[in-house]
Amino acid sequence: NVIYLKDYEVPAFLVEQTELRFELEEDQALVRSQVRYARNPESSNRQHPLLLDGHESLELQRLSIDGEVLSEKDYRRVGEQLSIPNLPDHFTLECITRIEPQNNTALEGLYKSDGMFCTQCEAEGFRRITFYQDRPDVMALFETIVVADKQRYPVLLSNGNMVDAGDEDDGRHWVKWQDPFPKPAYLFALVAGDLECIDDRFTTASGRHVSLKIFAETKDLDKLDYAMTSLKQSMKWDEEVYGREYDLDIFMIVAVDFFNMGAMENKGLNIFNTSCVLAHPETTVDAGFQRVEAVVAHEYFHNWSGNRVTCRDWFQLSLKEGFTVFRDSQFSADMNSPTVKRIEDVALLRTAQFAEDAGPMAHPVRPASFIEISNFYTLTIYEKGCEVVRMLHTLLGAETFRKGSDLYFDRHDGQAVTTDDFVQAMADVSGRDLSRFKLWYSQSGTPQVSVTGEYDAEHQRYTLHMRQSCPATADMATKQPFLIPVAVGLLDAQGDDIPLTGGQTTEVLECVAAEQSFVFDNITVEPTPSLLRDFSAPVKLRFPYSREQLVFLMQHDSDGFNRWDAAQQLAVGIMSELVVDYQQGRTLVLDSALIEAYRQILNDASLDKAMVAKVLTLPSEAYLSELAEVIDVDAIHQVHRFVKDAIATALAPLFLQVYQANTSAEEYSPDATSVARRSLKNLALSYLMTTEQPEYLALALQQFKQADNMTDSQAALTLIAHSGFEAEAAEVLASFYQRWQSESLVVNQWLAVQASDPKPDALARVEALQQHEAYDASNPNKIRSLVSVFCAQNMQNFHNSDGSGYRFLADQIIVLNKQNPQIASRLLTPLTRWKKYSAEQGALMKAELQRINNSGDLSRDVFEVLSKSLAV
Ligand code: ARG
Ligand code: ZN
Repeated sequence: NVIYLKDYEVPAFLVEQTELRFELEEDQALVRSQVRYARNPESSNRQHPLLLDGHESLELQRLSIDGEVLSEKDYRRVGEQLSIPNLPDHFTLECITRIEPQNNTALEGLYKSDGMFCTQCEAEGFRRITFYQDRPDVMALFETIVVADKQRYPVLLSNGNMVDAGDEDDGRHWVKWQDPFPKPAYLFALVAGDLECIDDRFTTASGRHVSLKIFAETKDLDKLDYAMTSLKQSMKWDEEVYGREYDLDIFMIVAVDFFNMGAMENKGLNIFNTSCVLAHPETTVDAGFQRVEAVVAHEYFHNWSGNRVTCRDWFQLSLKEGFTVFRDSQFSADMNSPTVKRIEDVALLRTAQFAEDAGPMAHPVRPASFIEISNFYTLTIYEKGCEVVRMLHTLLGAETFRKGSDLYFDRHDGQAVTTDDFVQAMADVSGRDLSRFKLWYSQSGTPQVSVTGEYDAEHQRYTLHMRQSCPATADMATKQPFLIPVAVGLLDAQGDDIPLTGGQTTEVLECVAAEQSFVFDNITVEPTPSLLRDFSAPVKLRFPYSREQLVFLMQHDSDGFNRWDAAQQLAVGIMSELVVDYQQGRTLVLDSALIEAYRQILNDASLDKAMVAKVLTLPSEAYLSELAEVIDVDAIHQVHRFVKDAIATALAPLFLQVYQANTSAEEYSPDATSVARRSLKNLALSYLMTTEQPEYLALALQQFKQADNMTDSQAALTLIAHSGFEAEAAEVLASFYQRWQSESLVVNQWLAVQASDPKPDALARVEALQQHEAYDASNPNKIRSLVSVFCAQNMQNFHNSDGSGYRFLADQIIVLNKQNPQIASRLLTPLTRWKKYSAEQGALMKAELQRINNSGDLSRDVFEVLSKSLAV
């Protein structure tokens, strides 16, 4: 059942008003909807029936048109669709459905999380609540009444403004909410529970007073301040940088413990996974604080890029997600170190998104077809989609880009539009023809750019020759050349930037053909090129640098991102050779160039500490795997250990100095400088611990015992738990659990540390932990911390050559397929990459995919991923 973009048709009916009434009880919820429909003048067929989406789980209790009850012969219900023919041009449809939120384990639609009611309607969850045209181009004004027991559910929330409330005489109470902005059903939200909140206010640039409320269970009330600060910063930033103001009198966030994704931008009522909103120094690591800041901003920014201007259909998902990720990345860059933020984003893109492009689920930023839209909340839609918007920003410049975004918001406010509309706004303000650029939306795959340099001393001319190509992907065989912006600088022998056109030090070259050359005149010495500065395009760029040149760039490039990338390229080159040595049984010897380069960086006091930590972090095993033609998990793992150990041994005194110099008694603060200091300190400790010397174990144990914040505590815990000091490992794990067992999110970290342990008994441990009191097999956060971490991050153990890791994962998926299809399908990812491994490993992986396939009733989610994985 494939859905195609090319088959898009406008809805047959428009909705003028949607009135909902929810009666929430312990064993059911009754939902009454009254919807005013009008035939869509743009629909070609005036006889078209009304097509409503409704999940099979809906128990239809009553259907009436303008007060006349319909009988079963008046409509047809087949699968997920209800079709009502012979309708007038205007009418009101009343519909009563009965649902069972308490039994909704899929966590889509209306469900219960820890005793509270909440919703998740994106993408197609609303059809699990009532019959509706559940598609984003049907926008309506919503009015919602929620009725529930007052004792159990004192707080009743929905979108918009609260307009009325009252008590009934049976112990129930009700609240009426009205949302003044038309919206698609996927932005609907409802929450009912025993919640408390923290309060604040924000005054917008034009003087609107907005009440800000963040709700959570009482026990978590002390972990909401950081989210509130982040929210206010986001509101201010969006006014200053994009001219976007908030538009309601109230903005609410609710933290829930059971959630399939990170968070959801429901109009005026964002719902967050606790993992993306709660933060406290004692329980949250630095990366957790940054995640809260980023996700709060992301969901807030959706109010414009997603809600005020929404998507016409789900093929356009990146219209809101790519743009919003770009906006939140700009925000995080402004709040923290922009270079570090860029490095983190690119590292994720190059390991995980590039791997997605190379796998069976490859798809363009605007997919042409899908079976289940939930499977397309991907790195390609989000992260590559962000890169595509970033390229527009690079090509047009900040000022023109802002004009384009103003025009886009202005032109399409209140509409459901396409990625073409977005690019058109950018084309209109810049006067540029962006038709080639649009291939980034329609063609999948990671382009490769091979660059060579040619210096002509006689004419003082330097030429860069570029060839671009894009490998075939699972979904698309051939591609046309992309418009690739390549930001370039040229370094002289001292490492200074040579002034280029107009005196600028970085020039953006536009590579648009399969082969193209770019000439620089008046270049008096042969330069070292710095290419793809700040990662100006999501491509794999190759230049035949010598190791000396990479060290030179590491030390001198004025582009911080490229300094880091030069270090990565240097390490990748050295480690790839060592992988071959390992495979051929040769003794491993580390090129001292890497050690010396690292020594230099450690000694350079002028560098930002966060940058030093990034530069000194070896390419991950996952990144090396992505780069490999055939992934040899064992060789990569052993080489990684060997190189880290060799560096640690050679530079131990320096690492110790760095460790000590960056140990501080200051009170914890999640500001960028302190985060940088801790990241460098804990990196130094991780090198020291690699050597397995007892004196460094003592250091780690001391840090573990004395830490007053989770960042230091967890860093020490992980290093000790993963070390060969087994007695101490067991001890710290036990004491950590003892101390934190009542903090669910901390327990998740405790599970993840054990699931990622490289020691050979990890699988047995994971299986034992599934029986632990701390585990809950119905909570996605627990599943992610234990099962996903083991299967996606513990490469060595998951890929055990006896196939036990694969068997374990398949067993999990067979259970989850029925319980929570979205999570099941996501968990499948590691197995889908079977083609990248040796024939024997691949066969074991494929056999497990086949076993899942034969296990019976597959959800659409799992079916799509399986069938695509088995077809390649
Ligand atoms: N729109 C949300 C966000 O990016 C993601 C929600 C996706 N949920 C889902 N079940 N597919 O912030
Ligand atoms: Zn989003």
